[in-house]
Amino acid sequence: MSRFAFRRAAVVEPEPVAPPRSTEPAAPPPGGEPAPAGEGAAAEPAKPIFTAPVAKAPEAAPAPVDNSMLDIRLKLHAKLIDEIDLSKLDKLEDAEMRRQVRKLVGDFARTERLALNASELDKMGAEVFDEMVGLGPIEPLLSDDSIADILINGPFQVYVERRGELELTPVRFRDNDHLLRIVNRIVSTVGRRIDESQPMVDARLPDGSRVNAAIAPIAIDGASVSIRKFSKKPYSLERLVGVGAMPACVAEFLYGAVRSRVSTVISGGTGSGKTTLLNALSAAISEKERLITIEDAAELQLQQPHVVRMETRPPNIEGKGEIRQRELVKNALRMRPDRVILGEVRSEEAFDMLQAMNTGHEGSMATIHANTPRDAITRLEQMVAMGGMRLEPSAIRGQIASAVGMIVQVMRLSDGSRRVMAVTEITGMEGQVVQMQDIFVFNRISTDAEGKVLGEFRATGLRPKCMDEMIRRGINYDTTNFDPGRALK
Ligand SMILES: Nc1ncnc2c1ncn2[C@@H]1O[C@H](COP(=O)(O)OP(=O)(O)OP(=O)(O)O)[C@@H](O)[C@H]1O
Ligand SMILES: [Mg+2]
Repeated sequence: MSRFAFRRAAVVEPEPVAPPRSTEPAAPPPGGEPAPAGEGAAAEPAKPIFTAPVAKAPEAAPAPVDNSMLDIRLKLHAKLIDEIDLSKLDKLEDAEMRRQVRKLVGDFARTERLALNASELDKMGAEVFDEMVGLGPIEPLLSDDSIADILINGPFQVYVERRGELELTPVRFRDNDHLLRIVNRIVSTVGRRIDESQPMVDARLPDGSRVNAAIAPIAIDGASVSIRKFSKKPYSLERLVGVGAMPACVAEFLYGAVRSRVSTVISGGTGSGKTTLLNALSAAISEKERLITIEDAAELQLQQPHVVRMETRPPNIEGKGEIRQRELVKNALRMRPDRVILGEVRSEEAFDMLQAMNTGHEGSMATIHANTPRDAITRLEQMVAMGGMRLEPSAIRGQIASAVGMIVQVMRLSDGSRRVMAVTEITGMEGQVVQMQDIFVFNRISTDAEGKVLGEFRATGLRPKCMDEMIRRGINYDTTNFDPGRALK
């Protein structure tokens, strides 16, 4: 696939319109499945660290996997869990623990008749040690780049999400105490605490992965831990096109709209790819602009040089010192941003975000949890009302209609793929109602024998209002893409 071709129009302003930075070729794989390994392929090649025996054979050929070594490591780990008194582990000196682990690995290799030389044994001992002092049995899952989420339901059931599908893994903890020790290790590194009085905690691993842990009494069948892994190689727009999330011409339109400062809200359900798309779209923002990002747990990886990142702070143990998104958005406006990027608008900060979009910070962006563009508007309205603003519903809607320029609806489909479902423009108010028009929509047509969702993208035939602004800014978009007569590729 070629890079996005943005041509400059005859009347232009001085700002150069650069294509997205990434130059990686994204090979469109059949049906949106990740392409085989390779630079810029749809999915990163699976690292040969972990393969769940219950997993289906992956469609994409991963890098050579030595399954036998993997099985051995998992087996060895299970054995160590059985043999070592884990409660003493935390107290042992590192060197002593390394020595003991190395000895157990040697014993294990002998009883299993493994032909391993001394350096291989050392390597294995070191890896197993890292697993034990790190996050235990889930370490191999954390270092496997093909895994997006790790979901621990009590000590004996660990699921992973890979290429949009959930798989049960053979990973297990010795018992709930073992799992709790790991949970404590995670939350204590970020200065948090988890116990009966505070049984739910959000935390972040050193690599940026997001963790939510819930323990007794609220989690009934053992501790529950959900980890959303930090993507080391964030999706670019081109890569999203490559995996079939949208056609190239839709990506080009979004790129042009964001570049011309259309305030954009990305709407979708949990895990539908909102943050991923927001991150990819941010590549369209000029490097000359000053950006402020506001998130609960910093996930965005903007490529611009001039970015100030801010994060909320939860209350401390005495319930004090909380800093909410609303305060951060208000503060951000005093920091002379060109745009404010709000990771997810969830509550009363909606009002301040709309204010920002209406007062010279056009091009600000946010994600929202909603199932349709219309639903996103309704949610925004409810959120503003939640902030205790004494505004008439029609006044709130008026604010929304003038602030938000475009809603991009994303969805995780039944086959695990994530797609842009609609690009919808907000065109103003008519009476009491916010007016919106779809520009591009994905129509689901059927599902094939493997459960893959089949469908097509089409323009609705409406010419978006923001085209005028795009043209004024020198972005020359091919308007034949608005022809509803053909499916978009
Ligand atoms: N188009 C896509 N194709 C394949 N995987 C994707 C795509 N978009 C996102 N993902 C993956 O899906 C997972 C969820 O993505 P993301 O965090 O962006 O979703 P979200 O809607 O922001 O989730 P949340 O509701 O938790 O905030 C991530 O692992 C991400 O890498
Ligand atoms: Mg998100």
